[in-house]
Amino acid sequence: MAGSRSPLVLGPMLRHIGETDATVWVETAEAGVVTVEADGREWRAPTFGVKGHHYALVVVDGLAAGDELPYAVRIDERVVWPPADHAYPPPRIRTIDRSRPTKLLFGSCRTSVSHDRKGNDSNGVDALRALALALAEGKTDWPDLVAFVGDQVYADETSDEMQEFIAARRSLSEPPGKEIKDYEEYAHLYGLAWSDEAIRWLLSTLPSCMIFDDHDIRDDWNTSWSWHEQMNQTPWWHERLMGGLSSYWVYQHLGNLPPSELARDEVYARALAGASSGPGSGFGSDGRPGADEVDLTDPVFDLARRVDRHPEVYRWSYRRDLGDCRLVVVDSRAARVLEPDHRSMLDPEEMAWLDEQLTGDVEHLFIGTSLPFLLPPGLHDFEAIDEVLAEGAHGRLVGTVAERGRRSIDLEHWAAFNEGFAEVFDIVMDVARGNRGRAPSTIAFLSGDVHNSYVAEVTDAAARHGAQSRIVQAVCSPIRNPMPRAVRVMMSAFARSLVRPMRFIAERSKHVPDPAYPWLVTDGPWFDNCLAEATVQGSDLAIVWRGGEVRGGDDLHPVLTTVGAVRVPGRHADDPDSGVGEGRADEGHTVTR
Ligand SMILES: [Fe+2]
Repeated sequence: MAGSRSPLVLGPMLRHIGETDATVWVETAEAGVVTVEADGREWRAPTFGVKGHHYALVVVDGLAAGDELPYAVRIDERVVWPPADHAYPPPRIRTIDRSRPTKLLFGSCRTSVSHDRKGNDSNGVDALRALALALAEGKTDWPDLVAFVGDQVYADETSDEMQEFIAARRSLSEPPGKEIKDYEEYAHLYGLAWSDEAIRWLLSTLPSCMIFDDHDIRDDWNTSWSWHEQMNQTPWWHERLMGGLSSYWVYQHLGNLPPSELARDEVYARALAGASSGPGSGFGSDGRPGADEVDLTDPVFDLARRVDRHPEVYRWSYRRDLGDCRLVVVDSRAARVLEPDHRSMLDPEEMAWLDEQLTGDVEHLFIGTSLPFLLPPGLHDFEAIDEVLAEGAHGRLVGTVAERGRRSIDLEHWAAFNEGFAEVFDIVMDVARGNRGRAPSTIAFLSGDVHNSYVAEVTDAAARHGAQSRIVQAVCSPIRNPMPRAVRVMMSAFARSLVRPMRFIAERSKHVPDPAYPWLVTDGPWFDNCLAEATVQGSDLAIVWRGGEVRGGDDLHPVLTTVGAVRVPGRHADDPDSGVGEGRADEGHTVTR
């Protein structure tokens, strides 16, 4: 091994979890064979390389539903995890058990700064770390999965530590300055995000899934055609985007895939094919994994190049089945149609895939989208109006001003892509009406991005359209990147002040489409750093937003707190008291604390 560097650079991260299988991801210092040991059995994978870094994804299969197996990781013959003197409980693989009610964590927007006084003063307490400490001490129940719904890393707003790394390899005064430049810097950025001891332990024992939002690449990523054009004219954007998408595939996306889809992934299939045949394969002449490594640099960079120009050639979205519920995570950033005369949040292939995944016959249907599907109604109208103006409905000058607004105050959510918004809303209503299998008790959009957390619900007027499911939007943002206090007050007032005038304009404009189904914000906003916990309770859903608080000046050991809580009573067609139909149509909010 080179110098005194640990053979395990990052991870292990427990990523996919199924009823009988799991995947464990690692970054290693050298090429080698990675072995996961559990229950007296072993599972192995040779490393693959990207840009001189080494990684492995070990598929652990043949497990039983509800297994709880402590595990260890070896690189070649050396045990590298858990460390001998580890202060945390042994990491374990806990498979899905259909009879256990699902507990799903979600949240977004997490900056990586120190966890001491300085870091807590500037960025608040890291809610993910507060939860890790509480779990390690047995102070809270175990979740099944954490879904990180965007801005896992900030490539455009870097910490002092990240800037030290950058400064050691290039001048900060040259573009892109303090922003991430390439794959190497991204690899370091991911290391900073996930290497704190408590975070690293949590991610080794709690399965995770992820989807990017803008900051994983850059603020406002793919907001409009003109944004795309402008970025392409800079000398640094291409390298940044290639590094961003390639590292996203390695660090975030690969672990989203279930084992059954790995061989179908065009990039990972190369690793599997290389690992099982021919000279230079990852397996030795005895058929066991050897140290020859497959280099995926060219395939993954080639993929990044193609998806930038033709998003339809690859799908970043995915689905996870969790026993009593299903989580469908949709890419609301990279699959956009951005043409001067045609915009949509999802290209036709992506929409067709989503259409297939959104079906009933599950108790709860979760739809993960980094950007909130349902914004506060005033903001929704504002973004929808801005989209119409930016596309030139009232002339070029107005269009330019609207485009500036779109970028400067992030008017780029589903509301700003009416075509995708209306279509997805219709599909969801179709599921809620029971036209795609038994209607779920709840359909919940899980999102982040907006630096405040809230709940919105499609009002009971939806029941008049035949909805048998409650349809809610739950937002959890930020995990650690709070909005300055003055901006919070301003944003809240701004959102409230928009409601009437924006509705007035939208109703009178022949260009601005009216949403087919009304909704209301029922709870929030909360501005604290937090991570949300959605727990299935039969046909109901309980959602609690958990934060962290420093007590007695002990910055390194924040205490887990509750920021907000709601209970979403499930609505079910079979249940005579469910409130389906006209009887409860005017009852008002159905989400209660
Ligand atoms: Fe974002």
